[in-house]
Amino acid sequence: MARVVNQYVCQQCGAKHRKWVGKCDDCSTWNSLSEEKWAETVPKGISGIGGQQIIFSPLEGNEKYKKSIKTGVLEFDRVCGGGLVAGSALLLGGDPGIGKSTLLLQAMSALANAGNQVAYISGEEAIDQVRIRADRLGLSSAPVELATATNVRDIILTLDVPDAPEVVVIDSIQTMYVDNLDSAPGTVAQVRTSAQELIRLAKRRHLTLILVGHVTKEGSIAGPRVLEHMVDTVLYFEGDRGHEFRLLRAVKNRYGPTDEIGVFEMTGVGLTEVSNPSELFLTGHSDNVNGTVVFAGIEGTRPLLVEIQALVSPSSFGTARRSVVGWDSGRLAMILAVLQTRCGLNLSSSDVYLNVAGGLRISEPAADLAVAAALISAFSGQLLPSRIVVFGEIGLGGEIRGVKQTEVRLKEAEKLGFECALIPESLPNRVKQKKSETVININKMVSLKDLLKLFEGPDNISNTMAH
Ligand code: TYD
Ligand code: MG
Repeated sequence: MARVVNQYVCQQCGAKHRKWVGKCDDCSTWNSLSEEKWAETVPKGISGIGGQQIIFSPLEGNEKYKKSIKTGVLEFDRVCGGGLVAGSALLLGGDPGIGKSTLLLQAMSALANAGNQVAYISGEEAIDQVRIRADRLGLSSAPVELATATNVRDIILTLDVPDAPEVVVIDSIQTMYVDNLDSAPGTVAQVRTSAQELIRLAKRRHLTLILVGHVTKEGSIAGPRVLEHMVDTVLYFEGDRGHEFRLLRAVKNRYGPTDEIGVFEMTGVGLTEVSNPSELFLTGHSDNVNGTVVFAGIEGTRPLLVEIQALVSPSSFGTARRSVVGWDSGRLAMILAVLQTRCGLNLSSSDVYLNVAGGLRISEPAADLAVAAALISAFSGQLLPSRIVVFGEIGLGGEIRGVKQTEVRLKEAEKLGFECALIPESLPNRVKQKKSETVININKMVSLKDLLKLFEGPDNISNTMAH
């Protein structure tokens, strides 16, 4: 018989603690523990007490592998690894209000219009609310089966039938509950058990299950991280409330690559796909302000051009201020240290502000050179020509190291009308030097000193352009 005990469970990662602590030992989140009841089963020997024999099968099955279903929303399909896989579970996480329900309603309507059977179960909104949104998005005529339910038992009873829908959306998993569990909906115990039951149903009936999970910072309801290991695919929908664009990012995918992103724009009539994100991120790029540099980055398999902005101003306090938006502050500190030690550029008594325009977050080390160029430009007041792109990693010795996919970056820059590129001299190990197919002017750099030389006089920069 299971003994019910009280435990403190981290609402971010699901780790259990015997006593309340301020910081979770497992994921280091502060103030995320809440008291929950857990049924503790006493382990005992189970050999020779019944059970069922399991059946082994060969790797090669008789049934033809069912191909993935394309929703028709290209950005969504690409991030999923080509489409939705039958019998799989997908988790779509994101901040409340970022547009998860809107995205899924659009994708499901497209699927339903293409003749697939789709069910949308909302635990948060009433049917009328979903209808109003569908009407606003112009999707009212799509044959999506709509329901509001929160009891997992009812959902399973309804869907555990031979002609179950091919795709089922549960919006959101934090509103679902299993009625034989004591804890409230949204707690780790409920979220996990509900997801487990629904995933089991998906595997049994070969349907694609899409779970929506809210990311929460307060720790009052369980975040999607407690489910990440249970599902096949984890997508996060991110974006800045102040900006219109939204990024769909795959962080785990058993059926495709994980570093893929999809770009959408939130408009008055729902989300529209952005097939050329570089153009979006470069809107408003100004040619005549110092400290701005265009970085040719890679997000997933796609090149993405973004503007990096730096501002250097004299510090009025004892400690200089460093403020970073969209990049790693540790990496900025490193670049500043390298600039000072290897090139003698002293910014220790200046405030430094770094911003990735458009609200994007960059994690690639390849942005180092662009950041350094923006800092030098801001410090010296010299402009870098606007038709120039920059990329390369900086080592602690001040050397500029090669980065992957040089050719793809250059091609994208060329496509958008850039005339010159500052790139590393070397390529990463094991990458064979190929003859470049681009016609863009290339200025290869070995160390940061080469970059500084460019800023020594206006002539040097214009020479680069005329190269
Ligand atoms: P929603 O999909 O409800 O977010 P989530 O399910 O992630 O909580 O999106 C809500 C936000 O999207 C809301 O702030 C309004 C905005 N929105 C638009 O700007 N345009 C639209 O056409 C729709 C439907 C929503
Ligand atoms: Mg929603």
